[in-house]
Amino acid sequence: MMGRFGFLVSLLLTASLNVQLCLGQSSTPTVYKDSKTGITFDTWIVPDKRTGASGTASTWGGMTFGVALPQNALTTDATEFIGYLQCPSNSTTLTGWCGISLAGPMTNSLLLMAYPYQNQVLTSFRYATGYDNPEVYTGDAKLTQISSTVNSTSYSVIFRCQNCLSWNQGGATGHASTSAGSLVLGWCNAFPSPGNPSCPDKVSIVQHDNGQSIFGAALDSNAANPSYSQWAAKATATVTGNCGGTTSTPTTTPTAAPTGVPVPSGTYDYIVVGAGAGGIPIADKLSEAGKKVLLIEKGPPSSGRWGGTLGPDWVKGTNLTRFDVPGLCNEIWEDSAGISCTDTDQMAGCVLGGGTAINAGLWWKPYTLDWDYNFPTGWKSTDMAGATSRVFSRIPGTDTPSKDGLRYLQQGFDVISGGLASAGWKNVTANSVPDQKNHTFSHTPFMFSNGERGGPMATYLVTANARSNFKLWTGTAVKRVIRTGGHITGVEVEAYRNGGYVGVVNVTATTGRVILSAGAFGSAKVLMRSGIGPQDQLEVVKSSTDGPTMISNSSWIKLPVGYNLDDHVNTDTVITHPSVVFYDFYEAYDDPNITDVNLYLNKRSGILAQAAPNIGPMFFDEIKGADGIVRQIEWTARVEGSGGVDNGNAMTMSQYLGRGAVSRGRMTITKALSTVVSTVPYLQDKNDVAAVIQGIKNLQAALKNVKNLTWQLPPANTTVEDFVNNMVVSYSNRRANHWIGTSKLGTDDGRSGGTAVVDVNTQVYGTDNLFVVDASIFPGHVTTNPSAYIVIASERAAERILALAPPKALAQFAQCGGTGYTGSFQCAAPYTCQYQNDYYWQVPCRYVMLMRIAAKSTKIATAKNADESVDTVRD
Ligand SMILES: Cc1cc2nc3c(=O)[nH]c(=O)nc-3n(C[C@H](O)[C@H](O)[C@H](O)COP(=O)(O)OP(=O)(O)OC[C@H]3O[C@@H](n4cnc5c(N)ncnc54)[C@H](O)[C@@H]3O)c2cc1C
Ligand code: HEM
Ligand SMILES: *[C@@H]1O[C@H](CO)[C@@H](O)[C@H](O)[C@H]1NC(C)=O
Ligand SMILES: *[C@@H]1O[C@H](CO)[C@@H](O)[C@H](O)[C@H]1NC(C)=O
Ligand SMILES: *[C@@H]1O[C@H](CO)[C@@H](O)[C@H](O)[C@H]1NC(C)=O
Repeated sequence: MMGRFGFLVSLLLTASLNVQLCLGQSSTPTVYKDSKTGITFDTWIVPDKRTGASGTASTWGGMTFGVALPQNALTTDATEFIGYLQCPSNSTTLTGWCGISLAGPMTNSLLLMAYPYQNQVLTSFRYATGYDNPEVYTGDAKLTQISSTVNSTSYSVIFRCQNCLSWNQGGATGHASTSAGSLVLGWCNAFPSPGNPSCPDKVSIVQHDNGQSIFGAALDSNAANPSYSQWAAKATATVTGNCGGTTSTPTTTPTAAPTGVPVPSGTYDYIVVGAGAGGIPIADKLSEAGKKVLLIEKGPPSSGRWGGTLGPDWVKGTNLTRFDVPGLCNEIWEDSAGISCTDTDQMAGCVLGGGTAINAGLWWKPYTLDWDYNFPTGWKSTDMAGATSRVFSRIPGTDTPSKDGLRYLQQGFDVISGGLASAGWKNVTANSVPDQKNHTFSHTPFMFSNGERGGPMATYLVTANARSNFKLWTGTAVKRVIRTGGHITGVEVEAYRNGGYVGVVNVTATTGRVILSAGAFGSAKVLMRSGIGPQDQLEVVKSSTDGPTMISNSSWIKLPVGYNLDDHVNTDTVITHPSVVFYDFYEAYDDPNITDVNLYLNKRSGILAQAAPNIGPMFFDEIKGADGIVRQIEWTARVEGSGGVDNGNAMTMSQYLGRGAVSRGRMTITKALSTVVSTVPYLQDKNDVAAVIQGIKNLQAALKNVKNLTWQLPPANTTVEDFVNNMVVSYSNRRANHWIGTSKLGTDDGRSGGTAVVDVNTQVYGTDNLFVVDASIFPGHVTTNPSAYIVIASERAAERILALAPPKALAQFAQCGGTGYTGSFQCAAPYTCQYQNDYYWQVPCRYVMLMRIAAKSTKIATAKNADESVDTVRD
């Protein structure tokens, strides 16, 4: 799970503005005329908590952003604007910084940060490819100031922003369109001042702690103005701060490249790439079968068990880190730097354990229909039964995570479950009756054990690591696989952290295999960088820094990698009830309740043994669409406000639309070699939308007799239709972090127009020893949070891969490739499989071809058998 706890956006309450009731996702501007310059802006106001505004879409001190646009901007896309940015400082010495995202989300967008310094307001353009510290923007955006004000409570700046409505960071591009009549914008705010403040492009910052959100911004006729050019001419001040004599021409702050260690010698029967939900179990199973296995993880250790060290002061001196304590799991949303992946625009853990190190630990025994509906023969629920029982015998999970067997702060659970029960929904123990997912509710099952996170890192990785034929590398990222045609000989690695390995590590000659388990974005990226994917994406890789060393396009394997992207669509609803009791898990990090800490450290009991932010009940609904498809809904209730409703008595109930949804998105790669969700997989289909609406109505009906319960979102005076239709559809606010599907498993070979990237053995089409085993292979979404399903799929894949005949080299004259070819791609020495044409794209294993190509290059390979091979020329 889950959505972004605490900061999910509902446009309706953002900035307490009126919302236009159309799908334009817009919020009405307030016109502001600056008295000094006469410039008129459309502005949007983030409400000030100190003046009574509540909730997470507000900020201490309030914040305003506005734009003035060229006269024709509402019909022709503008390339520049005049901006007004006013941000709070709550200290007598000015502190803080604030930021605007010109596309809404933090990632993939031009970011502008501003902060007060010595009576000036300094600014810096930034860009983030992941949920980590943004880099300095290297494109040609230009900011000149018209005026600025700085006083004890606030700082503001009016500026001309040229080339600010489209952006390009090392080839990753995007834009905002003024002719669309509305913008989607994002804001963030921070209390502490930047470190090293004199030079804006060199400041050091930590994650914003005074709120962030996205909002729709309607542009009305006041936004575009005939006086624009006169106003723009006032922008004469270039305010650079002091950057040591030079002007602040944007240059990427060179983050020192990690120092790597050359790959040690040795080959492996299996190289598994990525130690998350998919990678850890399969590495264990293969090593259990006696294979020599190398598991390569990009990130650093997370859990204390594996040498991780991060955590609050109160875990220092114990064997625990922030990753081990269930009550600290949502810290990822407040402090993600160095933990989240920097090369994908979605939240993902790039640490040992992957998602299983940073997630909330929800752990579901699969609903058999999920396999039967989504997967082909060989992966039906009956096929998965063995794997399921193996996984649940190793990681049984629990719905009473506190070791004393008690459940803490259950008031919210009781309110909602009481309402559901009296409306006839059935109370079940979810993992005892996994197929009861229609009008049922339950306590939340977690993978936790012994009051700690547990999961694959505490089970499968422990047994694997005890074997001498298993090796784990951390801090090492796989760049690509090395291959000749469809046969992989090894992987190229680089250091992601200091001490990581650099170079090429090979698999055992002839029989070795490579398994990609780098996650729905990570595995797709490795495939694309290895010349496996859609033509347009391989061309992007070709145009990147990878280009010169990328495998030649005659060897590209064209598969629909990145298509079929899916995630649960998240729609947040909020109620308040006087008996709900909130617990501040974020505060437990820095300023914990000592009794709670002692109960946890001494007995692994109490509220901190429960996942933040007090998750439950979980409940389920099935809705049949007009298209005849039954769509599955999972609801997660948690004790927390969101979408503008304060913590306290609030519960957020997140609706996840899963199995049966037909909308799909697409993940693509940028020239900067980061991955992006270029098409969101949410609500493109009207029956998907209808299910979301019906699900909320069903819930409202079920809770209607709960005394003192107040619906906040949707508010009582808003129809569910309007609520759903007016909510922004962005990955920022609608994601569930359950990304799947980018290397779909199936029988319809993607090389010949099908949709599948891997076959029923998880083997990549067009290769003889490359596999994908992680969330990527799921054809469609499941009912619940998916990690247990992914671990089960990994167990199942191990069975199937171990049952395959070992790869073998072909004799001379055998076919070793070609469109639709499914056999071996390797030839017995000294022959090499060679390309001939696309249809017959590899000619028979013949030494002659090797010699012929070699002869063209300056260095001729071994001349042994040259005469003989020349004799065999037939074409
Ligand atoms: C914040 C959050 C909360 C979640 N909560 C839950 C929940 O409560 N319950 C649930 O069931 N699911 C939850 N999920 C989803 C679940 O964690 C993921 O679906 C699951 O972990 C995906 O498994 P995976 O093996 O595909 O990828 P991951 O678990 O992400 O593992 C991929 C691994 O590969 C590594 N990697 C990537 N690229 C490379 C490379 N080039 N070289 C080497 N290594 C690489 C990564 O560092 C990572 O460790 C949550 C997800 C998030 C982000
Ligand atoms: C150390 C630096 C930073 C870190 C680690 C960080 C991390 C994050 C995280 C985890 C979120 C929450 C995602 C969510 O709401 O779902 C977020 C949201 C956001 N951030 Fe940052 N951030 C940083 C700096 C910045 C800067 C400098 C800006 C702008 C100048 C910015 C703009 C935003 C915006 C607008 C959002 C809300 C949109 C969204 O939800 O994606 N961030 N950030
Ligand atoms: C600003 O105010 C907030 C909320 O009152 C407080 O938590 C924070 O510490 C203050 N910061 C500074 C720098 O004064
Ligand atoms: C500081 O500036 C803000 C915005 O310009 C203004 O609203 C506020 O009144 C000023 N405060 C003081 C103390 O001058
Ligand atoms: C910490 O130590 C306890 C007690 O020995 C053990 O049960 C637990 O598994 C350990 N946890 C980690 C994360 O190492």
